[in-house]
Amino acid sequence: MSGIVGYLGKRNALPILLDCLDKVDYRGYDSAGVAVSNLEHIELRKTVGRIRDLRSLLIREPLHKGTLGIGHTRWATHGTPSVTNSHPLTGCDERFIVVHNGIIENYPYLKRKLIKQGHDFATETDTEVIPHLLEEHDTGDLEETVRIIIPMLKGSFALAIMSKEQPGIIVAVSQDNPLVLGFGKGEAFLASDIPALLPLTREIRPIKNGEIAILSEGKVTLKNMDGTAIEPGHTLIEWGLQDVMLQDYEHYMLKEIFEQPKAIQETLSARLKEDRVFLPELDELWNEEEIKSLTRITIVASGTSYHSGMIGRKVLQKLLNLPIEVNFSSEFRYEHPELTEQNLVIILSQSGETADTLSALREAKKYGCPVIAITNTAGSSVSRKADCTLYTKAGPEMAVASTKAYTSQLAILVLLAIWLAEKGGWHGAEQIPELLKWLKRLPGDVESTLIMTQDAIDQFAQLTYDQENIFLIGRGLDYVLALEGALKLQEVAYIHADAYAAGEMKHGTMALITPGVPVIALATQQEVLEKTISNIKEVKARDAFVIGITTVGDDLLAEEVDEVMYIPSTHPLLMPILAAVPLQLLAYYSGTVRGHDVDRPRNLAKSLTVE
Ligand code: M6R
Repeated sequence: MSGIVGYLGKRNALPILLDCLDKVDYRGYDSAGVAVSNLEHIELRKTVGRIRDLRSLLIREPLHKGTLGIGHTRWATHGTPSVTNSHPLTGCDERFIVVHNGIIENYPYLKRKLIKQGHDFATETDTEVIPHLLEEHDTGDLEETVRIIIPMLKGSFALAIMSKEQPGIIVAVSQDNPLVLGFGKGEAFLASDIPALLPLTREIRPIKNGEIAILSEGKVTLKNMDGTAIEPGHTLIEWGLQDVMLQDYEHYMLKEIFEQPKAIQETLSARLKEDRVFLPELDELWNEEEIKSLTRITIVASGTSYHSGMIGRKVLQKLLNLPIEVNFSSEFRYEHPELTEQNLVIILSQSGETADTLSALREAKKYGCPVIAITNTAGSSVSRKADCTLYTKAGPEMAVASTKAYTSQLAILVLLAIWLAEKGGWHGAEQIPELLKWLKRLPGDVESTLIMTQDAIDQFAQLTYDQENIFLIGRGLDYVLALEGALKLQEVAYIHADAYAAGEMKHGTMALITPGVPVIALATQQEVLEKTISNIKEVKARDAFVIGITTVGDDLLAEEVDEVMYIPSTHPLLMPILAAVPLQLLAYYSGTVRGHDVDRPRNLAKSLTVE
């Protein structure tokens, strides 16, 4: 994954491109580059490293002033992060200038053919076949040449292309890969993600498969690949500039952890009224008979979204008597059961652009399954392909580590479970009034959890700053939450953190428990509290340093652990939302105390648009 940006207008393009690149650098930050046209010539600069390194290069080697250009920030897939492999890429004679996100799957074949035709390749990238193909099929008209070569490419790609022979034009194409047009007065923008455009415009339009966008003379022309014009139609984005600013926070991750009460409130508010759940998006999809005829629910997601799917499964299981399963998006195509039209598929994705998740969605559609997407990103590919979308209203999530999108997904999964249980008349319906009571209090309870745990977690992170291993244990929903807590610690603190079902430790992992090793024991589920405490005693007997997380009013745990942290009590099915907060804070403080860039963890990227 990489980030693409573009600008066309009357202003100096370079500062706009750099600012936009700063906003998409969560998509990859191995190298960066820009190409700027002054309508006569195009100049390029690129470097290994982040956008700040590109800015330094541009001070040492300034670019000419120009009013249109493209930029790129790379997450290396094919070829190491090097200046040569950085985008923009050119071919033999530098006629065509290309930035690309995605993977050209048939590039080995194309490359061999182009080499036979006399092309010299300079990079290890898959992307380089594109400028060479453009040279090979050049008609003298950039738009037409792009249209000729696109059908030759297999894979997923978003492209912005310039030509030294037509320096007043940018051509952009997107195939199963996000690329958004932004519209201003006499200017147009391109970006891989909406947040990059928010300082410039809130009028956007994603480029869809089979479309080609031509940015020239201050405007955008959108066409089908056969050349017929399309009326772009703009969408007005609800997000504002404040949402993508750091404000008084040092990092987006901390800001987003603290935005959770608001994110959950926004996600719930319009849907939770007078003790009823309203999901009008779903009313259009099914009638009650169709809901009653569902035979199975399959949840599909990756990473943190997969963890919210695991919790969602437990919530759905409590309220519906249907078989419910969760699959990794990347595995779904190879191991899904026989799918039918009675099998509801729920796709979870913060970005709505994760390539593995999109492939899984397509697979489900092949079987005619009804597909509900839960995403945070309006107009994303997942939402365009699903039958219906439930949006989380978390606002843009800028940190690579997902926090507020995760808890908002959990909140909406609870709403969905209630809605299905009520419509389908399933057995868990009698639990709904109590659940609704606690749901209404949820934003306030998350706020209290932040206040109750922030300082203690900060201190614990300072105390354990030299530890390389951390174990997280829990039973039931606490175990699933432990998995997410471990992922966060790995992701931003680079700690070898592992989660275990507390009762399983004795079957092998206990051998790893040595004196002083930190163990975080999650004990928020009353149903299994006594059993969890027995397991805690077992690790304590091996002299582990145990920090327990439990609910206010529970006195049992404090006697068994080295330190205890209390969070508010809520409905058991909502406890993972509250208990996620101290785990997110722990990852944040453990990352910062170790001096890591928590918003841009090494080797990762926010939106994984390659499989
Ligand atoms: O945008 P998605 O929810 O589809 O992303 C899935 C994962 O890549 C994502 O949750 C990832 O695991 C996060 N960086 C974890 O914090």
